[in-house]
Amino acid sequence: MKLLVVGAGGREHALAWKLSRSPRVRRVYVAPGNGGTAREPGLANVPITDIDALGDFAAREGIAFTVVGPEAPLAAGIVDRFRARGLRIFGPTQRAAQLEASKHFAKSFMQRHGIPTAASETFSEPAAAHACVDRRGAPIVVKADGLAAGKGVVVATSLAQAHEAIDTMLTANRLGEAGARVVIEDFLQGEEASFIVLVDGHHVLALASSQDHKRLLDADRGPNTGGMGAVSPTPAVTSEIHARVLREIVRPTVDGMAADGTPYTGFLYAGLMIEPGGAVRTLEFNCRMGDPETQPILVRMKSDLVDVIEHALDGTLDRASIDWDRRTAVGVVLAAGGYPDAPRKGDEITGLPRAGAAFGDDCWVFHAGTVLERERLVTAGGRVLCVTALGESTQAAQGRAYRAAESIRFAGMQYRSDIGARAASAAATRD
Ligand SMILES: Nc1ncnc2c1ncn2[C@@H]1O[C@H](COP(=O)(O)OP(=O)(O)OP(=O)(O)O)[C@@H](O)[C@H]1O
Ligand SMILES: [Mg+2]
Repeated sequence: MKLLVVGAGGREHALAWKLSRSPRVRRVYVAPGNGGTAREPGLANVPITDIDALGDFAAREGIAFTVVGPEAPLAAGIVDRFRARGLRIFGPTQRAAQLEASKHFAKSFMQRHGIPTAASETFSEPAAAHACVDRRGAPIVVKADGLAAGKGVVVATSLAQAHEAIDTMLTANRLGEAGARVVIEDFLQGEEASFIVLVDGHHVLALASSQDHKRLLDADRGPNTGGMGAVSPTPAVTSEIHARVLREIVRPTVDGMAADGTPYTGFLYAGLMIEPGGAVRTLEFNCRMGDPETQPILVRMKSDLVDVIEHALDGTLDRASIDWDRRTAVGVVLAAGGYPDAPRKGDEITGLPRAGAAFGDDCWVFHAGTVLERERLVTAGGRVLCVTALGESTQAAQGRAYRAAESIRFAGMQYRSDIGARAASAAATRD
């Protein structure tokens, strides 16, 4: 069969790579893809981003099903438009994707259905928002309602910072329509983790747990980024926490969406705050897999992802299961100089194999911001590559990933040297 993956990042390279390993798959098209998907055996890039043109392509090529990587096409209604033409596609409808596309929607949904999250209020009037901040005090969190590509959340440690965030979003309109409303919520403390499941409208199948590293610099310092690395599993999600998240967050969310007439299908990502006492709250929902969490999660998946997604499309996820490699996977993002504000582009990348993600035993390099210019690989975005490795321990996986990273070169390359360190120290404390 032939499949289509929509997107251009490291998440999509990993998804397409994993799907292509199924013996049932002849080719996976990636639209528009990147320099890595262009060179991966079994994959082919398609230079299309328009939704209706993608539908035409899927119909013409007899694509068995489409998987959508990023949130923007989901929020724009790609699933509704494919389904209207009878094309099989895995993702949420436009209305269901509001769980990510509108933080106000997500918060009122969670309040209505008793799903644990930080207490919050929503404002479009600056004066009322400023008054709320003064009333609640700092630290406090100010979030743009809409999609803001990771730039819409300010965790304010002082009142001045919170007021400034409100001015930026509501008064100066710096984030446009996405910042026309803000959610102001209580600051939560604890350990963050990513909990991603597949949903078929009713049944749920959990993927392995993971943890992202959002800050640019070691020891979680510096500005927020799209994600500088991830580890799977994370010791923060014990089997007890896992059960609790399914019972208190995921199950009521899936049931609530169905009850509200917007049944959820697709990957559902709950960003968790695991509080010191073991209580779990939802920081946010995303309506797709995480980037870079996808990369370490998928190198651990032993089952055929095609079979699992087919169950999800057929509404039979209760009959599916996933086998996981019990080892730890660490994914280290190699970013361009100047990232996240002004990443440099156009630098040649050396030290990679001629084709394919495989980079020695139990190590893979997934591409994000790369393009193939004739035979040369060149940087083309902020997050350039994600080196992902498996190991018997977090330290072993780190060692393998960082050895590979050191052999890759491009001008201005920057990466964190401590991806997985929290998981490693948690494991050490437990031993
Ligand atoms: N209530 C909160 N208390 C403490 N920290 C928070 C809170 N809400 C958000 N954060 C911090 O801000 C980060 C981003 O918040 P959130 O996940 O809501 O934004 P986002 O832009 O949708 O993120 P993503 O790019 O992962 O989708 C979180 O990962 C967390 O570190
Ligand atoms: Mg989000």
